Amino acid sequence: MIRFLTAGESHGKALVTIVEGFPSNLPIHSDYINQQLKRRQSGYGRGSRMKIESDTVQVLSGIRLGKTLGSPISFLIENKDWVNWQEVMSIEDSSEKFKKITIPRPGHADLVGLSKYNYDDIRNSIERSSARETAARVAAGSVAKKFLEYFGIYVGSFVESIGGIYSTTDYYYKLLQNKISQSKSAIEVSVKADKSVVRVLDDLQENKIIKKIKSIKKTGDTLGGTFVTVATGVPVGLGSFMQFDRKLDADIAFNFLSINAVKGVEIGNGFENAEQHGSQVHDEIILKNKNLFRKTNFSGGIEGGISTGLPILVRAAMKPISTLARPLFTIDLSTMKKVKSRYERSDFTAVPACSVISESVLSWAIAKHFLLKFGGDSIEETSDNFNSFIRKLPERIKKGFKS
Ligand SMILES: Cc1cc2nc3c(=O)[nH]c(=O)nc-3n(C[C@H](O)[C@H](O)[C@H](O)COP(=O)(O)O)c2cc1C
Repeated sequence: MIRFLTAGESHGKALVTIVEGFPSNLPIHSDYINQQLKRRQSGYGRGSRMKIESDTVQVLSGIRLGKTLGSPISFLIENKDWVNWQEVMSIEDSSEKFKKITIPRPGHADLVGLSKYNYDDIRNSIERSSARETAARVAAGSVAKKFLEYFGIYVGSFVESIGGIYSTTDYYYKLLQNKISQSKSAIEVSVKADKSVVRVLDDLQENKIIKKIKSIKKTGDTLGGTFVTVATGVPVGLGSFMQFDRKLDADIAFNFLSINAVKGVEIGNGFENAEQHGSQVHDEIILKNKNLFRKTNFSGGIEGGISTGLPILVRAAMKPISTLARPLFTIDLSTMKKVKSRYERSDFTAVPACSVISESVLSWAIAKHFLLKFGGDSIEETSDNFNSFIRKLPERIKKGFKS
């Protein structure tokens, strides 16, 4: 069973990640992880913090001579901005030197954190609830992503909409209709999305979105949006219906909802299918080159909590950023009077970054179920188990059904 923990405050000295459970001998290079971290920092509409940070991992353990050892892998990502925050983030008590924050922002973790942890300074809520933590999570997810690539499983993403602006050509619908080939298409889609500053696949849509971001920046407002995350090359048989917490779709939804500001997730054509007839949405089983196949992929590659062997398709919704330069009303806890909310340096939209983070969380969920099924202490052992399953699968399906 793979697991990871992250630690670190947004303006603290550094973020730390410990990843455990991956087999030994997986080839991996820190450049690969740094590339994913760089992608997370991209996107038009980010605040000035991203200009200060240029995230890179220091690998502290678990990798030697370009391969995993099977031991816990630990990463350190420095917060370059920390130098500007040393007094506020001091380990020793220096609270007389700065003003505590008493004005909670609506939509953020400020008030709930203070209520729950009995803080007397909202700064304490802000620091750990910040999406800065997702840098540490992308480091963990990059190990999972690399692991999946070893087995021909690729994970990619693109932004579907920002501020309600969609493309007129529905690429997602083609995926649902099973009209896009398996192989590396998840990577191809990501490479294309990475060329756009807002990670969309359509130039016209990109221009409209940039215009909209520019205009909301002027008014001090923020935007959310939707994004699609795809995994291709996933074998049949990951996840299980034997227990609720072993279902692949449930685990994916959990992982997606753990990303800051993600408030909706659907697998395949989830919400739209609810409005259709059963005959319109279930993926008919057909024979193609003597192999079982599906006509469509409206189920998004999962049935009964188990991967079907078709691409896994996830669509998620990110709410608009809650720190507004044009603030909403709130209550100052020091006076209990109605005031305008606080503004602190912030993104105007972060949907492109969120889509990159989603690749890490989807990779993590799939890698977890892959290792639950195929196990192995070394990558060679995992490969043997995987290859044997794949080789014998058609035989096993047919066995017992011959008339
Ligand atoms: C990549 C990314 C960047 C974000 N940047 C900001 C930001 O600059 N300002 C902000 O108020 N919220 C930002 N958020 C959202 C907050 O982290 C989130 O709304 C907050 O932690 C409260 O959690 P919740 O929205 O999940 O309830 C960002 C989220 C992500 C995924």
